[in-house]
Amino acid sequence: MTSSIRFLMCAPDHYDVDYVINPWMEGNVHKSSRDRAVEQWQGLFHILKDRAVVDLVKPQKGVPDMVFTANAGLVLGNNVVLSRFFHKERQGEEPFFKEWFESQGFTVYELPKDLPFEGAGDALLDREGRWLWAGYGFRSELDSHPYLAKWLDIEVLSLRLMDERFYHLDTCFCPLANGYLLYYPPAFDSYSNRLIELRVPAEKRIAVSEKDAVNFACNAVNVDRVVIMNKASDELKERLGNLGFEVLETPLTEFLKAGGAAKCLTLRVTEPIIPDHRAIAAVESRVVRMDGHLLDAGLINQALDLIVEGGGSFQVLNFQLGEQRQSTSSADVKVTAPSHEVMEAIVAQLIDLGAVPPPQEVCDIIWEAAPQDGVAPDDFYVTTIYPTEVRVNCEWVKVQKQRMDGAIVVSETANGITAHCKLLRDLKQGDRVVVGVEGIRTVRKTESREQRNTQEFSFMGSGVSSERRVELVVEQIAWEMRQIRDQGGKVVVTAGPVVIHTGGGEHLAGLIRQGYVQALLGGNAIAVHDMEQSLMGTSLGVDMKRGVSVRGGHRHHLKVINTIRRYGSIANAVEQGVVTSGVLYECVKNNVPFALAGSIRDDGPLPDTQMDLIKAQEDYARLIEGADLILMLSSMLHSIGVGNMTPAGVKMVCVDINPAVVTKLSDRGSVESVGVVTDVGLFLSLLTQQLERLTSPYKLAQLV
Ligand code: ARG
Repeated sequence: MTSSIRFLMCAPDHYDVDYVINPWMEGNVHKSSRDRAVEQWQGLFHILKDRAVVDLVKPQKGVPDMVFTANAGLVLGNNVVLSRFFHKERQGEEPFFKEWFESQGFTVYELPKDLPFEGAGDALLDREGRWLWAGYGFRSELDSHPYLAKWLDIEVLSLRLMDERFYHLDTCFCPLANGYLLYYPPAFDSYSNRLIELRVPAEKRIAVSEKDAVNFACNAVNVDRVVIMNKASDELKERLGNLGFEVLETPLTEFLKAGGAAKCLTLRVTEPIIPDHRAIAAVESRVVRMDGHLLDAGLINQALDLIVEGGGSFQVLNFQLGEQRQSTSSADVKVTAPSHEVMEAIVAQLIDLGAVPPPQEVCDIIWEAAPQDGVAPDDFYVTTIYPTEVRVNCEWVKVQKQRMDGAIVVSETANGITAHCKLLRDLKQGDRVVVGVEGIRTVRKTESREQRNTQEFSFMGSGVSSERRVELVVEQIAWEMRQIRDQGGKVVVTAGPVVIHTGGGEHLAGLIRQGYVQALLGGNAIAVHDMEQSLMGTSLGVDMKRGVSVRGGHRHHLKVINTIRRYGSIANAVEQGVVTSGVLYECVKNNVPFALAGSIRDDGPLPDTQMDLIKAQEDYARLIEGADLILMLSSMLHSIGVGNMTPAGVKMVCVDINPAVVTKLSDRGSVESVGVVTDVGLFLSLLTQQLERLTSPYKLAQLV
């Protein structure tokens, strides 16, 4: 008997599954056998008694889970942090455990009310005493971890639990003697897995299979070389055996029905303090303020969701609810994250939602020099489509050339400070690049409920519409295009070859001819098939009038490419009277600029197709500048390319037969994008009809 080790247990006199607070308890209420539970508990008790001292705390009526003494608190040396149970069903255990610890002379620390922490169920000491692993996500709150670090004076490594079957850290994680670790990696998020891998070398990590995990193999008690658990596969026994551990199985199936096994039923109360390992908690907190129609527009939900999904946790400190329909709300949210890195990733996303630090905490940006041409400092802030401002010398400066996926460069000129978005490849060594998340804010328009509902363009919300509603959306788009044309605005069209294949070519050509389009973006294919139709009457070899494949038609487009190549450019072929109709013809005739971006699958290419993609991106960006509306017609590739370079505020209409493409592209906030799931040829035909109705004075008179 290693009498220096002591455990605390609690006999199952009142044990039963009385309620459901974890997935194991579901369907098991009152399904466990008291006799079998007693027998199984005795089995564990005797195994432990042969190897350590076992203390007992008196079982109490009405708190059946008190058998799980691991949840009494977390002991280190003479200190104990008492549990604060998440569920009210278990809160009744707290005073009994407190009394026991006090009777044994422990110094008892109690967490603030409403800050859950479930003791050694969620906090496990590295067996060498070097640090404390602490779980969060289901029962214990991340904010409790800094208290553990402070009171127990130990480094705390926070691990986020992801699988509700493994709701306590000790259900899927078990540090063993000599620095080994028995654990089930899928129970953790990727950041936590990385942290584990950083601290525990590969040869010491014993990952268990799901089969072992659900048998609670990780819920094991380790005394020196012995590892006691409910059940282990032969494979696991062998692996542990090879590492010098002896596995003792003792059935605990009655307790599995409540979601616990060997480790849960015990609390090691002798945890010696190992000097030299001092308090550090990587856990960070900061407060952000959000203003706007937080509830109406769902902003607060989005913010809280992204904090939790990003691996952090939150506390809403102050919520000022705007009571009138038009009044805005404001909230201060305390964000807690397990590390600085995770904090920055979360805050960067909150900035996208318009979060700012509370006024007393606003600071200037931090910048670092670009280390070489075309390379940003590691921690650079990645821009979004939303108008952004950066704070330099206590002044907010608007970022120019806003687009997503860039870096922000600040410069000081004679006229003061300027800031602009730059693509990585355009950075020059020494450019002052904004890093971290300090001093950055995005300006999100506060749209009221009214605006969201009445703004002519948000009519369909960012929803994706199909079938009958298509007609209504098209009517709106036609109206919008008419307005833009009358006001001398700019409509940019990005189109794929499907426009031609579906018979939309003539309609698009018509729109260009009538001055509705100010720039055309596409790839090699739309131009090829457009001119194939003009020269040979087919599109990818399909006769456009009869809708059937023409013998040898697959050669057509290569003949066309060859012809245009001979003339040197599309414009030349038009001027020479070779191409006499179609989309590109109208572009040339009406001086509508176009850019064709090449890709790996291009035949030819046409002489106009830009195969240098950096140049093609620049051409696109130039043509998009100042756009009021972008029509994206059946080209995932070119449309996403365009979406990436367009700042918020530009209206977008995305038409595709594939809902996935539409959803991906129209996910840009409610007011500015409309998705239409339909055949693009049909869409263009409807659009042309609607525009005609708007134009014809007779029909207009009929409409009013
Ligand atoms: N029914 C108990 C609960 O859900 C089981 C606790 C198991 N204990 C543990 N340390 N994992 O809280």
